[in-house]
Amino acid sequence: MKPFFLWLVLLFAIETFAQDDERHRPQLHFSPPTAWMNDPNGMVFVNGEYHLFYQYYPNDTVWGPMHWGHAVSRDLVHWENLPIALAPDKLGYIFSGSAVVDAKNTAGFKSGKNAPLVAMFTYHDPEGEKAGRRDFQYQGIAYSNDNGRSWTKYDKNPVIANTENIKDFRDTKVFWNEKLKSWSVVFAVGDHVRFYNSLDLKDWKMTGEFGKPDGTHAGVWECPDLFALKINGQTKWVLLVSINPGGPNGGSATQYFIGDFDGKTFKNDNSPETVLWLDHGRDNYAGVTWSNAPKNRRIFIGWMSNWDYAQKVPTEKWRSAMTLPRELGLKQTETGIRLIQNPVKETELLRSGEVLSVRDQIVEKELSLGAGKSSLVELDLEIDLSKTDAENFGVELGNTKGETYKIGYEPKTQKFYSDRTNSGKMDFSDVFGNKKHVAQHLSRSKTLKIRLFFDTASVEMFAGGGATALTDIFFPSEDFTRFKIYSNGGKTTFTKAKAWNLKSIRR
Ligand code: FRU
Repeated sequence: MKPFFLWLVLLFAIETFAQDDERHRPQLHFSPPTAWMNDPNGMVFVNGEYHLFYQYYPNDTVWGPMHWGHAVSRDLVHWENLPIALAPDKLGYIFSGSAVVDAKNTAGFKSGKNAPLVAMFTYHDPEGEKAGRRDFQYQGIAYSNDNGRSWTKYDKNPVIANTENIKDFRDTKVFWNEKLKSWSVVFAVGDHVRFYNSLDLKDWKMTGEFGKPDGTHAGVWECPDLFALKINGQTKWVLLVSINPGGPNGGSATQYFIGDFDGKTFKNDNSPETVLWLDHGRDNYAGVTWSNAPKNRRIFIGWMSNWDYAQKVPTEKWRSAMTLPRELGLKQTETGIRLIQNPVKETELLRSGEVLSVRDQIVEKELSLGAGKSSLVELDLEIDLSKTDAENFGVELGNTKGETYKIGYEPKTQKFYSDRTNSGKMDFSDVFGNKKHVAQHLSRSKTLKIRLFFDTASVEMFAGGGATALTDIFFPSEDFTRFKIYSNGGKTTFTKAKAWNLKSIRR
């Protein structure tokens, strides 16, 4: 072969290889440049930046000795990945935790002009675990005086030792407690959460515990978060608790409680048997909210995977992504006060062009949205259920290989469903494509609103004004670029259907 030809062949091979390497790479969501990622950690807003730390193992695409990876964003949409923030040391791996701005320098870590950031995380001692001990998790802190770019671990760690020999003792979410004018932290302790209090982030005393009889206990409790939200001028407290396994559609998922916080402990408004789910899809776990977000916004991000198969999903260079950042609120529903979530307004920055905008469209079989170039689409649908007699309706994604993903609604049962049983690569796990996922709709109103965000390997659905969320990932062997709206067994009346192509955040 002529050298020029050889060169061309080589270029082609490199390009193909690089593409394969990056197959399924999310284009709208944060994913680590390489290697393994799980929970979001240490989210804090300061000096115009949203910090996102994350459980990270830089040396492999499966879980390993945990570090805190680090990324920042100014708009919650575009992310810049930064060097690793925290690495394991002789006290153990760095498990999940949170970070705050210590504006009053209560811990005394301040060295420059800026208020220091203080991170509180769980140490996990693998040696202790191997030796069959029960006290291998305890809490530590670290601080940064340069906007989170470098961190120093406190030399007297741990700040909360595991003196009671409790096996699962982790995932600290620290927050300013206005009632006690001091810091509080909530973390998971076996089958419940505990609250501790401190004036200086170093010396902690337990103030209460919650949850032994409450919610579901089908799995271990992890990654709690506690925050206040307003509804009709009233303050209510929301407690998030992730559990693994035991999710509504299998594997890991996040439940929440609504109630009050007297500064020392949480009181549930609902009966202990009530189980509320933050998300009904398979792929939203360990999510927590940003500390110090401007304008009192309560912004959430979750890990978009499931411990059932996270370490086996078919990506080459990296594993996992985060959900879109979501703004949380409360809503009075027919069954009580419920958490609502919607993608942050900043996601509108992603819209590149409207590809569909119709009003009062009756769909009898299907309405094709065409075969676009891209699989990045936002859809905004409004359905008049009083003028709909279909058995089910929804959105179907497809590709030239005949693979499909469906997400829709069944008016008779008032259930949303998603179906990835034919969505492409599934053989990496027995429980990935084995069944449809369902979610109960909370409202009986005749108007149903559904917002959907499709990325190359995921969908996020927000229905009923954000009262029902469903997040799923999928791995088609070729991108889904064919979109259609379908109506089976009757007609569906769309009072509104709008679609936008979205811009990749990676270009
Ligand atoms: C949740 C979790 C946490 C723990 C971390 C370890 O996914 O198990 O409880 O801190 O992951 O990576």
